[in-house]
Amino acid sequence: MLRKFLLTTVFASGFALAANAAEQVEVLHWWTSGGEAAALDVLKQKLESQGVTWKDMPVAGGGGEQAMTALRARVTAGDPPTAVQALGFDITDWAKQGVVGDLGDVAGKEGWDKVVPTALQNFAMYDGKWIAAPVNVHSTNWVWINKKALDAAGGKAPESWDELIAVLDKMKENGITPLAHGGQAWQDATIFDAVVLSLGTDFYKAAMIDLDPAALNSDKMKEAFDRMAKLRSYVDDNFSGRDWNLASAMVIEGKGGMQMMGDWAKGEFLKAGQKPGEDFVCIRFPGTQGAVTFNSDMFMMFKVGDANKNAQLMMASDIMSPDFQSSFNVVKGSVPARTDVPDAAFDDCGKKGMKDLAEANSSGELFGSMAHGYAAPAAVKNALYDVVTRHFNGEIDSAEAAKQLADAVAAARG
Ligand code: BGC
Repeated sequence: MLRKFLLTTVFASGFALAANAAEQVEVLHWWTSGGEAAALDVLKQKLESQGVTWKDMPVAGGGGEQAMTALRARVTAGDPPTAVQALGFDITDWAKQGVVGDLGDVAGKEGWDKVVPTALQNFAMYDGKWIAAPVNVHSTNWVWINKKALDAAGGKAPESWDELIAVLDKMKENGITPLAHGGQAWQDATIFDAVVLSLGTDFYKAAMIDLDPAALNSDKMKEAFDRMAKLRSYVDDNFSGRDWNLASAMVIEGKGGMQMMGDWAKGEFLKAGQKPGEDFVCIRFPGTQGAVTFNSDMFMMFKVGDANKNAQLMMASDIMSPDFQSSFNVVKGSVPARTDVPDAAFDDCGKKGMKDLAEANSSGELFGSMAHGYAAPAAVKNALYDVVTRHFNGEIDSAEAAKQLADAVAAARG
């Protein structure tokens, strides 16, 4: 017990916080796959080594929809967790409710505003206050390809839509499931992010960020849906409801050729002992090279009593430390949420992710991911999910989907 009193964490700026006995953080998150759990463990162990007790509240479900439902119940009951994994507009929505904490003491002393990209600060801050600590930057326009399957399909990673289709056709001929995918709305929407982006960065911005009705119901959007329907033809019949990490497992095992998924998928490949360039290949979704649709996992902090305030600040400080940002993201598949973290510890896909992010940021081609809550608030996101999924499942054709997309977004915006 005495040891706990003595354990301290030294902040980058030189001030120190000590964990009091029995201090704890209760953390709500949806990191339940093998790769995700391995990454979470890096954070858990760091806090535990500082004498802070970790109370885990995992809520399974990729993309975090179920986690957000569980959070609502806790906040409504007046008993929010200490820290909650959250994305983009969800964070702003909670801040508006006046239930989130204030990390200003730590953020100011550690100079977060100088190292966290503005695109993230827009969500980690509300009303001039730091309310969340960004732990990473993921992006959704990636494709993860089994190396052997690619070699058997000619060996060249596709760079355009036509080349992508040629590789998928070849994989089909070779008797594997060309596209490993799980039929869940957020997964369909993750592919949709990349497909819309592949038809132009201006188009992505107009449709997904600006929610321009003329872009939502356009010939280009119909083309985006035609591309979705084409991709659907490479998915196996058992895809309905399949979790994303099981789709990753298909590619890892060579039963599937490729998966179109955010870079959390890399965490699964690494957990299975696979190496980029040897066992799998990472490429940007063909036609989206140079652009990035990002989402950043942030730990949004809720108002907690004095007993755990210190632990909450320690957690925020740990998350933001450059060393932690490196060691965590190397395992998670994402890249650091600070601009000053060296890429030395990252594999080739991670190095590419860091470079792509910096370049997209300076060229104005960095956009929030619609599928993962960084383009529009949940009501609009869910309206989009619904149309994209019904189209993917063949319930409506592409022209109808484009029309319904514009109508659904208009209705959700009220
Ligand atoms: C999160 C990732 C997570 C993925 C699948 C995304 O929304 O940002 O951290 O790994 O969902 O669960």
